Amino acid sequence: MVQAPARGSILSDYETEFAKSKEFHERARTVIPSGITHDGRHLSPFPPYIVRAEGGHKWSADGQELIDYGVGHGSLLFGHTDPDIISAMHRQLDHGTHYSAGHQGEIAWAEKVVELIPSAEMVRFTGSGTEATLLAMRVARGYTQKTTILKFEGHFHGWQDYALKGEKPPFERATVPGIPAETLGTVAVVPSNDPAMLEERLSQGDIAGVILEPSGASWATIPLKEDFLQNLRDLTTKYGAVLIFDEVITGFRWSPGGAQRRYGVTPDLTTMAKIVAGGMPGGALGGKREMMEMIEFKDATWNKTRRVPQAGTYNANPLAAAAGLTCISKAADPSVQQYCDDLATKMRTGLNQVFSRHDAPGFAWGESSVFHLDIGQNATNRTDGDLRSPEGVSAEDLKTSGGAPLAQLVEIGMLLEGIHLFHAGGMFCTAHTDEDVEQTVEAFDRVLGRLEAEGKFA
Ligand SMILES: Cc1ncc(COP(=O)(O)O)c(C=O)c1O
Repeated sequence: MVQAPARGSILSDYETEFAKSKEFHERARTVIPSGITHDGRHLSPFPPYIVRAEGGHKWSADGQELIDYGVGHGSLLFGHTDPDIISAMHRQLDHGTHYSAGHQGEIAWAEKVVELIPSAEMVRFTGSGTEATLLAMRVARGYTQKTTILKFEGHFHGWQDYALKGEKPPFERATVPGIPAETLGTVAVVPSNDPAMLEERLSQGDIAGVILEPSGASWATIPLKEDFLQNLRDLTTKYGAVLIFDEVITGFRWSPGGAQRRYGVTPDLTTMAKIVAGGMPGGALGGKREMMEMIEFKDATWNKTRRVPQAGTYNANPLAAAAGLTCISKAADPSVQQYCDDLATKMRTGLNQVFSRHDAPGFAWGESSVFHLDIGQNATNRTDGDLRSPEGVSAEDLKTSGGAPLAQLVEIGMLLEGIHLFHAGGMFCTAHTDEDVEQTVEAFDRVLGRLEAEGKFA
């Protein structure tokens, strides 16, 4: 752990303690835009650079040990370098990493997905979650022969052209640089938790598919009302739209069968990535046979006029298949999710106790094995019992709190304490411990104290 005695401000301490990361970042910025390879890793003045990871921890280039709440952007349910996954990968490495052909590993992997995910009667693998949502939308459009995809404010479905409308506030923004207006015109965005507005839009008759994160936007940052998923299931059936659950984060995390098993609502199609590929690059689309069959080769007329095409050099590559099969086989045991959920509950409770003790503006919330933090002037004490989370937030709240400089300062303050948060929150893996949670809560207490001392809540 770092736990260096505070010498100056949070920012000046960071410049000193993470000097090597700063050096890496300056080098990176000359050849990589903003020096980062994922927009989500942006941290001002510079992000930490990592040299090694094991279990629930990782080590920065500066030699600092960090508790890691990013865990591979949520893909490492069993933590870094899980011995079972690593040895499956080693075995596969010795047999080759790409056959330009089918292989047994992809069949076993698909069979395991079908066994675990209620909606998955058939599976197609992809290179990433973004590709999985792209394929899901194409299948929905091909199956219904309609055009428009309906999505919800704040829900993230990767960075492909049909996914970015309404993803970040202001949700009503009609343009995204680099994406043709014509493309954006084929996507409709509505707020979540409003069945009347949803039905009004569905009744216009042009909706091919409805996609959402079944946890609520951004892994439960904006929770869904208790009955919203069932309303959505009923309405999409009524109006003949394909219901797509984007389970890239929730799949195998919310339960062995994802959010759909946890909430008992089965979509038509499910997109997966992250845990499904055991931390390796990879994703999948699973769904009803009659929809997945849109991808099948049949007679010449069908192939030319109706078949939905899909390719991808790295789809189901043997290395991802080995990691993915091993990972989801282990994730089939519900005590895995229970362990992670319990740690997250303990974390959310502990963090909220710290907020109360300091009488600081903010709160922690979340579901399953994730936690979110809202800190600063805009954070209010939310008691909207109508939402699934007792302190539920709305899309309107996200508009005011997302990406606030204070959240970045908290992230930096926590780095100085040996903790790497992820998107002002984090996710748990089985390698995390009660001790990690206790250290994190204690560290958060000190960071809030420093922020108060620096006058950040004034
Ligand atoms: C819900 C959701 N869908 C899709 C994606 C995109 O997945 P990928 O980053 O593998 O392209 C993400 C990534 O975080 C996600 O959280």
